[in-house]
Amino acid sequence: MRAVIFGSSGLLGRSVLRAFGDTAVTGTGFSRAVGGLVRVDATSADDIDRLLGRHRPDVVVNCVGERRPEVWEGAPAQALGRNVDAARLIARGVHRCGARLLHISSDYVFDGTAPPYRPDSLPNPLNAYGRWKLLAERAVRAACPDAVILRLPVLYGPAQFAAETNLTVIARQVGAGARVELDDVCVRYPTHADEAAEVCRRIAGALWHGQCRGSVVHWSAEQGFAKFQTALLIARRFGLSAGHIHAGETDAASGDRPVDCRLDCQDLPAGLRPVRRRLFSAEFPPVVEPWLAPARPALSRREEP
Ligand SMILES: NC(=O)c1ccc[n+]([C@@H]2O[C@H](COP(=O)([O-])OP(=O)(O)OC[C@H]3O[C@@H](n4cnc5c(N)ncnc54)[C@H](OP(=O)(O)O)[C@@H]3O)[C@@H](O)[C@H]2O)c1
Repeated sequence: MRAVIFGSSGLLGRSVLRAFGDTAVTGTGFSRAVGGLVRVDATSADDIDRLLGRHRPDVVVNCVGERRPEVWEGAPAQALGRNVDAARLIARGVHRCGARLLHISSDYVFDGTAPPYRPDSLPNPLNAYGRWKLLAERAVRAACPDAVILRLPVLYGPAQFAAETNLTVIARQVGAGARVELDDVCVRYPTHADEAAEVCRRIAGALWHGQCRGSVVHWSAEQGFAKFQTALLIARRFGLSAGHIHAGETDAASGDRPVDCRLDCQDLPAGLRPVRRRLFSAEFPPVVEPWLAPARPALSRREEP
């Protein structure tokens, strides 16, 4: 199986590239196209067609996107291009070259009022990011009817910069020691990027064998936490003071953040089970530790459970 992973320099794409390590795989990047990644602008049909023509993949995974609120609020045209135009152009290119496509989407296509959400539940996004992810899903389905759309919740994993994941942003706030109010209403299901990548790899294999074409698949960790609870977990695990962290409802009160988008994963296609579940409580410490710096306690305190 030959694979192309668009967006291999990002949080999920790095994990997906590793998960495909034993196949003939080509990864792409854009601003971070380093270490063997091919630089491709996914908002350019020419770039996409050139890459697909050169590598002739059997399977393509699209991990290109823009999920950071500071970008979709501050530079909406750019975020629209990365989330919607890129999805449409990649889907067209993949369909033309006869490969199979796995497109990554998000639980933000739902409004969070009636969890759990099944793959056939009615989407009703509350904000621009959710609307773009839904537009992208529809564009992918129109251009490449056989594509699999995989919806994921918030991801975490080794970050290259603090703003790369919600978890590392919270870790920074815990470590900084300055008063902060964190939402205690909206529940998220942080899922390790490597676990999501393993699901991607299995779907790609199934697609290659002619299975699960044209489906929508949900994958999510089972444990849910609000940001405030996550901060307390971090503080407790590293023996840090939590006195500066206060419970609030900023996200819920904004009206544009879904309260609970728990994804129902019961309908995982046969052949994709079992994927090793990673427990958040066991996996988060090495991910957050590098981002706690300012308030890092003495080593002996960090040893505490
Ligand atoms: N992270 C999450 O919590 C989460 C949750 C649910 C769903 N998702 C979805 O999962 C997918 C991957 O998310 P992620 O968190 O891994 O994103 P990310 O870390 O921000 O990575 C985005 C990737 O897209 C690439 N990219 C951006 N603009 C591009 C362009 N014009 N042309 C080509 N590539 C471009 C980036 O390349 P450079 O960095 O090299 O510029 C990077 O490889 C997205 O569809 C996202 O919506 C993410």
